[in-house]
Amino acid sequence: MSMELPIPAALMPRHVAIIMDGNGRWAKAHGMPRAWGHRQGVVALEPIISLCGAWGIEALTLFAFSTENWARPKDEVAQLMGLIVEFFNKKIDELDQKGVCIRMLGDLAGVPQVQRETARQAMERTKNNAGLKLNIALNYGGRQEIVRAAQRLAAKCASGEMTPEDIGETAFEGELYTSGLPMVDLLIRTSGEERLSNFLLYQCAYAEFVFVKENWPDFSPAVFAAALDAYARRDRRFGKV
Ligand code: FPP
Repeated sequence: MSMELPIPAALMPRHVAIIMDGNGRWAKAHGMPRAWGHRQGVVALEPIISLCGAWGIEALTLFAFSTENWARPKDEVAQLMGLIVEFFNKKIDELDQKGVCIRMLGDLAGVPQVQRETARQAMERTKNNAGLKLNIALNYGGRQEIVRAAQRLAAKCASGEMTPEDIGETAFEGELYTSGLPMVDLLIRTSGEERLSNFLLYQCAYAEFVFVKENWPDFSPAVFAAALDAYARRDRRFGKV
């Protein structure tokens, strides 16, 4: 896959969000344990991150672990958590060199210490980088994020820092984990499932949804290019005619 733009630069989405679904089914289809599917999922992810940078996409947001994923078998939770730390340990130098700025979305206080610390260090180290904004949703839930924003605004009102009249979309968006990022232009979900699953509920208000049949470990640069092409062909009206 060349680094050549698959669509004109002017049509590139600013913010792409991906639900990396189907790792378990992919592993099962290959007669392997689910954990292997997640591991191959990280392998599939690496070139996609590079391409987002190369193609001038401003922000990439990945759904790594939801607030509901804790209900999975304990060993699968541990394997997913292990992969997160392994990813940062292995990739942080390269990401930093490429100018990637890492942000975690979600309730980091609720993840184990080693994941929290690794993620904090990655954010701290890359916070001034001006390249791709790579957001990793970990212990993330869209409703939880919205409720949290409401609580934070209520606290500011209670302390006199602001009044209810000050609460508009701008103030509200400032309390989301995605504060300062553009809204999602393109949401991609793999594996044929066509749901949002509590991901970026507020930010996807006018997102274009592209659902691809491939399971996440089979999400190649060519599949990504095809998803961008589908996006570029959409007629985005934002409620207008
Ligand atoms: C969905 O597949 C995938 C997940 C719940 C986890 C996705 C996480 C990764 C690929 C690793 C994240 C790591 C980094 C560094 C961002 P599934 O298990 O629900 O698949 P299934 O529906 O076939 O069972």
